[in-house]
Amino acid sequence: MTASNKLIITRPDDWHLHVRDHKFLSSVLPHTADRFTRAIMMPNLVEPVTTVKLASEYRDRIIDALPAIHKLTFDPLMTLYLTNRTNASEIKKARESGFVHAVKWYPAGATTNSSKGVSDIVACYDVLEAMAEEGIPLLVHGEVTDPNVDIFDRERVFIEQFLEGIIKNFPELKVVFEHITTADAVKLVEKSGPNVGATITAHHMLLNRNALFQGGIRPHHYCLPVLKRETHRKALIKAATSGNKKFFLGTDSAPHTKHTKENACGCAGIYTSHGGIELYAEIFDKAEALDKLEKFASFNGPDFYGLPRNREKITLTRKKVPIPEVFPFGDEECVPFRAGGELLWSIG
Ligand code: DOR
Ligand code: ZN
Repeated sequence: MTASNKLIITRPDDWHLHVRDHKFLSSVLPHTADRFTRAIMMPNLVEPVTTVKLASEYRDRIIDALPAIHKLTFDPLMTLYLTNRTNASEIKKARESGFVHAVKWYPAGATTNSSKGVSDIVACYDVLEAMAEEGIPLLVHGEVTDPNVDIFDRERVFIEQFLEGIIKNFPELKVVFEHITTADAVKLVEKSGPNVGATITAHHMLLNRNALFQGGIRPHHYCLPVLKRETHRKALIKAATSGNKKFFLGTDSAPHTKHTKENACGCAGIYTSHGGIELYAEIFDKAEALDKLEKFASFNGPDFYGLPRNREKITLTRKKVPIPEVFPFGDEECVPFRAGGELLWSIG
């Protein structure tokens, strides 16, 4: 339902999220649980979540850290971290668990805590086969790690070198191309079958790569895949607002401490959970596509994963809300997206 200053939609879910672990959980989870009913929890912890047992323990820590009002309602959807040595037998266990919903493929060295990721995807073919059989989706960080490939081309080259082959070799496998950043990725998803989808972040639709160098180097705009040129940003907005059921919301909100971002070798990741749905409302509003927001944020994700749609509603209001310079993050601080600025939409 749209009205010019108010929008009521089915409560959304976040299909790609990093909440870290231990002391950091309680700082970031309220932002997510205030907005979303479910979130796909990325497994790239310092000690990656490689087994159903580790996923169960991580899930317990997440639930423990949730505020009391969300403990019974927020549902963390767990994932496993694929390695060259993942045992195919873990996939059946994952499906039987009822709480592990996907397996994440990080090419080794591609991003934060990915050193134990996959260096040889062919060694994982038995696992992918089992996933196709059990209906467990493969979530893909789609970038090659070859240092000779320009960082702005890594997604496109990954499509050519890996992803097209995987989609062809495993036609039954559900694949989510995560945080897509290029027109090439949009095209691949559009032309593939119905079991290939993609998440799109708000930051890749709000910023182009100039934001990395706006008057000086901007570590808080550094994420992976790195921001791309304007033509790609426009292609992402077009895909997200098209109503195509293959595209859905995944914030890839990725908190790091202020000092590890503002560093000679700063970490990749942008924290957006404080505006987890509001930033998308702003994008869809600007694209005159608010009527498509509910599909993208609340329907396409659960439909793809084979989960029920949420039943509750949320209200989004066109009202400016100031964003603090920092949020507490464990015993440190995290600098949020658009720190010191404003959200243009608010919830409630
Ligand atoms: O920017 C990113 N941050 N991209 C990723 O792929 C990982 C994430 C993180 O965990 O910090
Ligand atoms: Zn991520």
